[in-house]
Amino acid sequence: MAEYVISINGDFVETADARISVLDHGFLFGDSIYEVVRTVNGRLFAADRHLKRLHASGHALGMPLQRPDDWLLEHFRQMHKRASWDESYLRIIVTRGVGELDLHPGSCATQTIVGIAKPLPQWPHDAYAHGCKVIVANVRRNPKQATDPAIKSGNYLNNVLAIMEARSQNAVEAIMMNVEGFLTECTTSNVFIVKGGVVKTPALHQGLLEGVTRGFIFETCKRVGIACEESDLREEDLHGADEVFITSTTRDVMPVGFIGDRKLTSVPGTITLKVANAYHDVLHDVANQL
Ligand SMILES: Cc1ncc(COP(=O)(O)O)c(C=O)c1O
Repeated sequence: MAEYVISINGDFVETADARISVLDHGFLFGDSIYEVVRTVNGRLFAADRHLKRLHASGHALGMPLQRPDDWLLEHFRQMHKRASWDESYLRIIVTRGVGELDLHPGSCATQTIVGIAKPLPQWPHDAYAHGCKVIVANVRRNPKQATDPAIKSGNYLNNVLAIMEARSQNAVEAIMMNVEGFLTECTTSNVFIVKGGVVKTPALHQGLLEGVTRGFIFETCKRVGIACEESDLREEDLHGADEVFITSTTRDVMPVGFIGDRKLTSVPGTITLKVANAYHDVLHDVANQL
């Protein structure tokens, strides 16, 4: 088992002792939300944006957070403080709490808060130097009218199926379409294409998580004078793209070198490289202001 720092309701415990009730609705029904904050130079990066999204997720599920932001922020810091590594991946999960064996959350009085920290994943250098491999998954992202993918919830089964498809083909990520055939996002990252010098990413109304990194990419592109827009993209746009990259809190900007067995030429592309370098500056600038 890898090394983790784990807390349950604010108390730090050994991994072997980290237990929650089988009557926790997070376990029973995936009735939970979560966020992942990373550190840069040992400091929390963009924690304010992640907390804002955690509130939005809670609000969408009729589950306002019971702990104040100060507590959550301090807990993220405490998790990192206990880590034996330099840079952390810090996850806080908030579940509906323990209740009756009944779908309705009325019997759940107190939310359960679980913290899990691990070393920030180190993706292979090759993925940045030559591009990673992604596939287009057969399994679709659920529509906004179902459990809205904009909610960062514990319901990730479509994404689990999609990443299983990806790994079985030696790909690091799977791009998921919605049921109407529009591109949405990957299993744990957002996707961007570059066409004719313009950076495009699926529009939020197609049903996807509004990635914190995705937001930074819009701001970064504006700052360095690259056009960046939301768009309704289909699979043919992906295949016709000059460049493709994916973004997330742990990956930053990762160029795509293969879509399935098709190799993209000149990876990383010039625009991807420019965006990646500019985002790298943002990471360190924001972290230094904390
Ligand atoms: C489904 C999904 N899309 C996109 C992302 C990327 O979001 P962020 O940039 O906030 O890490 C994630 C992150 O885990 C995710 O789970």
